Amino acid sequence: MDINLHNVYKIHLVSLNMFTEKYRPKEFADVKGQEKIIPRLKSFVEHKNMPHLLLTGPAGIGKTTLALIIAKKTFGDDWNHNFLELNASDERGIDVVRVKVKDFARTKSIKNVPFKIIYLDECDSLTKDAQQALRRTMETYSNSCRFILSCNYSSKIIDPIQSRCSVFRFRPLSEENVSEMIDKIIASEGLECNAAAKKAIYEVSEGDARRVANILQSCASVSKDITEDSVYEIVSAAKPKEIAEVLAFSVAGDFVKARDLLLNTMLKHGLSGIDVIKQIQKEVVDFEIDNKQKLDMIARCGDIEFRLVEGSDEFIQLEALLASFAK
Ligand SMILES: Nc1ncnc2c1ncn2[C@@H]1O[C@H](COP(=O)(O)OP(=O)(O)O)[C@@H](O)[C@H]1O
Ligand SMILES: [Mg+2]
Repeated sequence: MDINLHNVYKIHLVSLNMFTEKYRPKEFADVKGQEKIIPRLKSFVEHKNMPHLLLTGPAGIGKTTLALIIAKKTFGDDWNHNFLELNASDERGIDVVRVKVKDFARTKSIKNVPFKIIYLDECDSLTKDAQQALRRTMETYSNSCRFILSCNYSSKIIDPIQSRCSVFRFRPLSEENVSEMIDKIIASEGLECNAAAKKAIYEVSEGDARRVANILQSCASVSKDITEDSVYEIVSAAKPKEIAEVLAFSVAGDFVKARDLLLNTMLKHGLSGIDVIKQIQKEVVDFEIDNKQKLDMIARCGDIEFRLVEGSDEFIQLEALLASFAK
């Protein structure tokens, strides 16, 4: 078989050059948003003393990044030997986690810090029983280890774990945060990105910084000049304007035009029914229409989204939605 070493090498280079890693903040000051959280984490590092932590919030907003910064600042050059990163969902069960923690906790931490740090990502994927086992593990090693747990939903974490941790709720980045992030990356990469394109990136990223970095990198691979169109092209989302037009037609009672435009938009961008319903929902909120009608429309979106998730035919459901708006 002909293995193309050149390609293997290229893939390796690409992964090294991922914007997400290249622009992962290395200092507290580089982390965007999370203003309420950072001063407290900083003070843990300054005092070389911290409780167990539970970092909670959606993906791509700095949970892993801040855990790494804490480790690097606490342990300095030795951080690698004093920090263990595990993922609860791919370590195939809590037993593997337990063995790894046991091994890791056996050796002492560096002299001036009385603990090592274990970062356990995606804790909300653990069953309740597995979480009970994790709680016991945390207790067994609490003299020598601090746990930083991370999850998307703190409600999925059992109370006995929550009560043993300081809980930090991370927020999606604001439009200003995203804009600053974009400015930094485009300056360093020699890219152009106008205000409309920035707004588009913010809209489609929903404040997820990992997505921001990935969208920028995808756009940059096509052209150094990033535009609103190239952003929507890359994420294959309909432009808000297109969806707003669909809404305008349907509310004006022109069901046929609304349906045709929606169909066109979906085909052009390769959108699924769920993608579309989310965007319609967003546009309805901003739509100029009386409040009662708006509330009805939002409720209808919720119904249709539920049916789509349950597997109903997406065109029939979306048509029904537009028809109900047209009435
Ligand atoms: N608050 C932030 N400020 C700047 N960049 C961020 C921030 N959060 C995430 N990023 C970017 O997104 C990437 C993924 O972030 P990460 O901390 O791993 O997310 P998660 O919250 O899912 O653990 C980082 O490598 C970095 O490029
Ligand atoms: Mg993470």
